[in-house]
Amino acid sequence: MNNDIEAAQKAVSEALATLRKTLTHYKKTAHAPPHFLHEKPAGTLSAGALTGCRVFADRHQMMQALVKGGTGGELGVQYGHFSRFLLDQIQPATLHLFDLSDALLRRDIKEDPRTELHLGDSSSMLMRQPDQSFDWLYIDGDHSYEGVRKDAEAALLKIRPGGIIAFNDYTPWSPGEAIPYGIMACVNELVNEGLDMVGVALTPNGYFDVALRAR
Ligand SMILES: C[S@@+](CC[C@H](N)C(=O)[O-])C[C@H]1O[C@@H](n2cnc3c(N)ncnc32)[C@H](O)[C@@H]1O
Repeated sequence: MNNDIEAAQKAVSEALATLRKTLTHYKKTAHAPPHFLHEKPAGTLSAGALTGCRVFADRHQMMQALVKGGTGGELGVQYGHFSRFLLDQIQPATLHLFDLSDALLRRDIKEDPRTELHLGDSSSMLMRQPDQSFDWLYIDGDHSYEGVRKDAEAALLKIRPGGIIAFNDYTPWSPGEAIPYGIMACVNELVNEGLDMVGVALTPNGYFDVALRAR
């Protein structure tokens, strides 16, 4: 390991040690876990919410089991590595790609004749598409509660009845960034509002995926 990386790693470890001490102090003082760290606490899922939900080893297996072909969309594409998988394995007739920028996006994705790129805020750009025109959508853009809720609300209008809305990063907290994520709060709300959770995909790093079926 080079010296810069070693020094950076040491700095993170020291900051974490300090954080652990301050959390212990907080919990002793407040007699409660540090709920305030979460932007919006995720609600508990209602009884029976997971009836018919399947568990998969990873997101690739989940998507392959739940969707095939059709018109799809990926909200938040970054490099396009997952877009490559979707194009190769799910084989959509059209894959709509949404991101704020295409600066990092792979050339082979931009040049694939099945892709349509929409640059700008994903919820606003998705709202420009016809209602009920998507067979499936994969949401992985703005990870704040407000951002993901906007994407989800647009997705609910644009998905066909029975279509799949999948979410990456179903976790209340991102350990790699030490910031809260709003995906779990948003997804649990949607399930408690009546959508069926049909898939959960595990991953060793804890950033799970989930899939909901639109009514
Ligand atoms: C985690 S990356 C996506 C990774 C990709 N889905 C994959 O699995 O390889 C998140 C992306 O969302 C984009 N993003 C963040 N906020 C957004 C917004 N409001 N509208 C559109 N894209 C957004 C970022 O620019 C970034 O490229």
